[in-house]
Amino acid sequence: MNIVLLGAPGAGKGTQAAFLVEEFDLPHISTGDMLRAAVKAGTELGKKAKSFMDAGELVPDDVIIGLVIERLGQPDTNVGFILDGFPRTTAQAVALDAELSKLERPLDAALLIDVDPEVIVGRLTSRRMCKECGCIGSVADASCPKCGGEMYQRDDDNETTVRNRLDVYAKSTSPLIDYYRGCELLVSIDGDRDPKVVYADVKTALNA
Ligand code: AP5
Ligand code: MG
Repeated sequence: MNIVLLGAPGAGKGTQAAFLVEEFDLPHISTGDMLRAAVKAGTELGKKAKSFMDAGELVPDDVIIGLVIERLGQPDTNVGFILDGFPRTTAQAVALDAELSKLERPLDAALLIDVDPEVIVGRLTSRRMCKECGCIGSVADASCPKCGGEMYQRDDDNETTVRNRLDVYAKSTSPLIDYYRGCELLVSIDGDRDPKVVYADVKTALNA
């Protein structure tokens, strides 16, 4: 299964990817998670990315494309992959197509998790993440529901930055909906329902 998860910030890409990983054991390639790990480790990549991320802007294409191409070259992706948060621009989508055709591993589907922006602002300002295992939770979780670790709020989950992320999504990423519709890979799923109900549709879309 070679999948792209599309959707606005907070649509539930990470949540649905976690269900897929649990059931199908596929590598979850989240560019946001990779960048946050680089920021935490203080690498050159992290230093370059941090100001873009904190402002809710996109990290430049050349930085991100190289990162994903390198990741797709790792042998665990031979069984398939879930791309979450990549591609986010037409240039990234074109680069991904070129790489996957070189690797002879075409995409099976681009799943759009579709949620209204006003629902998203509430979701993201109350989201909390586990410092230890990265589990996605909410302000109601005093500790991580999975491992008991400490929960924190992402630096970009304040209302001003969330609204800018939504604007950036509308301008730079939403054109990919038509891009993948044109390739007959797009399946749109209503993401404003219980996460497990959304997941049932994800599986139907994947014939899984
Ligand atoms: P990234 O980490 O990818 O963030 P994002 O796309 O903004 O998406 P989120 O992770 O915020 O949301 P999600 O869709 O995963 O939702 P989640 O499942 O957590 O990117 C961060 C930054 O990195 C970017 O702004 C950019 O700077 C940079 N970057 C990353 N990739 C890049 C790229 N390719 N190019 C350039 N720059 C890049 O759910 C959200 C909340 O909602 C949670 O609390 C969850 O519990 C809840 N929730 C989930 N599903 C449901 C549901 N069905 N009902 C109710 N609540 C739900
Ligand atoms: Mg995410």
